[in-house]
Amino acid sequence: MEGESIKLTNLTKSYRKHEAAKSLNLEVNKGELFGFLGPNGAGKTTTIKMLTGLLEPTSGSAEINGIDIWQHPLKAKEKIAYVPDQPNLYPKLTGWDYLEFVGSVFRLPKDQFQAKANELLQIFSLTEQANDLIESYSHGMKQKIAICGALVHEPDVLFMDEPTVGLDPKSARNLKNLLREFCDNGMTVFLSTHILEIAEQMCDRVGIIFEGDIIALGTMDELKAGEDAEQSLEDIFLELTGGEDQQAIINEMSDDDGDAK
Ligand SMILES: Nc1ncnc2c1ncn2[C@@H]1O[C@H](COP(=O)(O)OP(=O)(O)O)[C@@H](O)[C@H]1O
Ligand SMILES: [Mg+2]
Repeated sequence: MEGESIKLTNLTKSYRKHEAAKSLNLEVNKGELFGFLGPNGAGKTTTIKMLTGLLEPTSGSAEINGIDIWQHPLKAKEKIAYVPDQPNLYPKLTGWDYLEFVGSVFRLPKDQFQAKANELLQIFSLTEQANDLIESYSHGMKQKIAICGALVHEPDVLFMDEPTVGLDPKSARNLKNLLREFCDNGMTVFLSTHILEIAEQMCDRVGIIFEGDIIALGTMDELKAGEDAEQSLEDIFLELTGGEDQQAIINEMSDDDGDAK
């Protein structure tokens, strides 16, 4: 499980005068669960959209498995899945129909699709709602069905923008365990969050983005130990406050016994 599966080279995005991503350079290795941590407005969503081919960079490049996503979008997009912070789903489809739609887009064999879809629905406690229309789902349920849709075709690289926002603690822990299992099997995950503890609990390695710059990169232990950063990490972390809704998730994850059940 070697080699880089995501590579940013001088990746830059300007919205008129405002530089939301400032010449980012970063490599994420195959099998890695990478956390992109930063406060609101830091540039996380902007970066993820450039990496998934949704927002054209002002300059620089983004590669997935060595394929430039802006030069060879179809080839690169075969390899990826993306769960946006506000999943845009088809309200008039049922959860099951939506997963079937994803399965057909990726031409999954029927048996394989059904086994995988049922497994994912069960993991996220959606089995009983699978035949309800998505428009009847809560925000958290929409988030979960979007995650199921992203995982059903077993992508090489998974991008998730603030995936724990809207999830209940149990689902967040299931997600964490599931991502770990997928990464152990070679999938790469690039996950954004504004909550320090989420990055700490879920990720192998973390990059901190602040005002469009990657200001620190390493394992959480390395980041905490490093005292040489220009701006104290402590100061930055103070801005990365987890709300009450996130505290239960953090507690649940800290209690984790590591079983993917
Ligand atoms: N479409 C846009 N037009 C102009 N400015 C934008 C647009 N989208 C985001 N921004 C600005 O770019 C910066 C980064 O935003 P974003 O990538 O959404 O940050 P994050 O996801 O980390 O909260 C913010 O200052 C935001 O206001
Ligand atoms: Mg965002």
